Amino acid sequence: MIEFEYAAALKRLPEQFFAQLVKKTQNLIQQGHDVINLGQGNPDLPTPDFIVEALQRAATHRKFHKYAPFQGFPFLKEAIADFYQREYGVEVDPKTEVAILFGSKTGLVEISQCLLNAGDKVLVPDPGYPDYMSGISLAGAEAVYMPLKAERQFLPNYQQMAATDLEQAKLMFLNYPNNPTAATATKAFFDETIEVAKRHHICVVHDFAYGSIGFEDSKPQSFLQSEGAKEVGVEMYTLSKSFNMAGWRVAFAIGNPSVIKALELIQDHYYVSLFGAIQMAAKEALDHGQTAMEQLNRTYRERRDTFLQAAEAIGWKGGTAQGSFFVWMPVPKGYGSEAFADLLLEEAHVVVAPGNGFGETGEGFVRIGLLDEPHRLQEACQRVGALSVF
Ligand SMILES: Cc1ncc(COP(=O)(O)O)c(C=O)c1O
Repeated sequence: MIEFEYAAALKRLPEQFFAQLVKKTQNLIQQGHDVINLGQGNPDLPTPDFIVEALQRAATHRKFHKYAPFQGFPFLKEAIADFYQREYGVEVDPKTEVAILFGSKTGLVEISQCLLNAGDKVLVPDPGYPDYMSGISLAGAEAVYMPLKAERQFLPNYQQMAATDLEQAKLMFLNYPNNPTAATATKAFFDETIEVAKRHHICVVHDFAYGSIGFEDSKPQSFLQSEGAKEVGVEMYTLSKSFNMAGWRVAFAIGNPSVIKALELIQDHYYVSLFGAIQMAAKEALDHGQTAMEQLNRTYRERRDTFLQAAEAIGWKGGTAQGSFFVWMPVPKGYGSEAFADLLLEEAHVVVAPGNGFGETGEGFVRIGLLDEPHRLQEACQRVGALSVF
């Protein structure tokens, strides 16, 4: 058997930090242990029935059995524009300011291929969603990390960044509500970001994956609600989390027309377009999903409250949980992130994600996914409490 050599771009892809954790978890489950898995970001609840039924109906339409039009059906782009108008009071032109994506992970990887050349600098949150690095590595670009610290509510501090990094950066990734820190952003922060981006000619990509999951008085801020956002960037929104549609692979980018055009160009070459029936079901979700989204938000809020109360009862305090379905918890004194996550896995059979897997600045924290029923979250805390580490 010939073992073919991989292209340099493929060899540059970062290792999957969490692959090891997944393996260890599976081993424990295979050994018959009752594992509470709060380590991953895969929504545990089903897609609402009305969306599944829309797919079932649409799957019988012959027009969807053909290739969908390049760049997607106008009906979905129009539904996306209506959704943003209703949810955020933001106006976008469905013809030039919306691109349909195969899940936002795909768009987040593609954008680096669209805008970066080898050696270009990119500003990346640390800690942050690891897949930003995939596109950056494929493009041969260089990541410059923006530390997200508790004392700054996990927002990057542009004042403290090297002037040369800002001058040279071509792209910036942001994500609020944030994975993994569960922090949210303010309008003032996005306004400042736009100013910085204009001054330094940086394209901003705001990853709004958890846009519908927020626990403060007002719903999470869209980047496009800030004046001038479209001039400097795009927002990516996925149906994976808002409507429990992670397996469906449907998301969209909206904003700056030149960036939208670039995303559509690369997708023309990779894919043609999403299965038309999925596009129809996505339209149904966006048009009629308000109640389902609100219900899901209440579910996560209840889980968050249950978890934080149970954690407090065992002396585990200081977590952040403003939005997303994560809680970002500090580790007890004397432990690093990985050592603590290993302890919980091995001794309590509770899986959490070590914070340093999301970047250096994540050291000292673990990420808890609120992706199980409240009684299981309580039980996880009780098992951790029994270790007497707090
Ligand atoms: C911050 C963030 N962005 C993007 C994604 C990707 O979502 P999808 O590819 O399902 O749209 C995820 C998924 O976990 C995420 O946590």
